[in-house]
Amino acid sequence: MSPTSPAPELGVLGAGRMGLRLAAMFARAGRRVVLGSRDPERAARLTAALGLPGLTPGSYADAARAGAVLPAVFIRDGLFDLLGAFAADLKGKLLIDISNPFNADYSDYITPWDSSGAEEMQKRFPRARVVGAYKHVYWEVFDEPLFEGTPSDVLVVGDDEDAKRAFLALAEGTPFRYLDAGPLINARTVERLTLITGRLGRQMGYYPRMNWRLLGEAWQEGRKGPAAPV
Ligand SMILES: NC(=O)c1ccc[n+]([C@@H]2O[C@H](COP(=O)([O-])OP(=O)(O)OC[C@H]3O[C@@H](n4cnc5c(N)ncnc54)[C@H](OP(=O)(O)O)[C@@H]3O)[C@@H](O)[C@H]2O)c1
Repeated sequence: MSPTSPAPELGVLGAGRMGLRLAAMFARAGRRVVLGSRDPERAARLTAALGLPGLTPGSYADAARAGAVLPAVFIRDGLFDLLGAFAADLKGKLLIDISNPFNADYSDYITPWDSSGAEEMQKRFPRARVVGAYKHVYWEVFDEPLFEGTPSDVLVVGDDEDAKRAFLALAEGTPFRYLDAGPLINARTVERLTLITGRLGRQMGYYPRMNWRLLGEAWQEGRKGPAAPV
């Protein structure tokens, strides 16, 4: 980044399956994104291959300095300690939490039932404004986000309404339908949805190309329902 170029709007930490795809998705939507890696040279090769204007490579420190921060590292791999090195950078910032607190063999979560990755993140970084998103979207979906031409859902959780609005503004133009799924405590449910999605997706032969979309119709009082079975 040259000293005169505007600061990145989003910094992604971790250039793995999710980090690379999310960084590319936000850049395609017109945001200025820095993709941070432990190995900035690898990030440079990855971003050069994509050739997206607005997507630049960097270190974790570069990513943590962006306007909003999205860590794409597993909690079991030391996400909180790693991010702790940049705690001062996170003060007052939108911190987009995508974590599912999987154990090593992906059979369960390492957080207790009365907590969630998102809540643990907020506890650990109380001065950041945590918004949970993309938790139930498997990495492959980002490569081809539409299902029969229709976007799938992203359930968004958070206690700070301004932060949620800031997140939705940042996500403007990305190929998902965003639904406000309530306060951060609802991350307990949203994160565990991933375990069900994984199981059902494998059962149905979809894995990893699957996501949720809530189906429904506008309901009007007095509307005639389907005929009662006789
Ligand atoms: N995979 C999914 O479908 C999915 C869906 C929703 C949410 N998530 C969440 O997204 C986060 C990242 O998942 P992912 O599937 O993208 O993981 P991944 O492919 O394993 O990538 C994680 C990245 O974390 C960085 N990292 C930092 N310290 C590490 C360490 N000690 N060991 C290994 N990697 C380390 C690495 O990036 P650098 O080497 O570039 O620093 C690595 O590429 C997790 O919290 C996960 O729960 C995943």
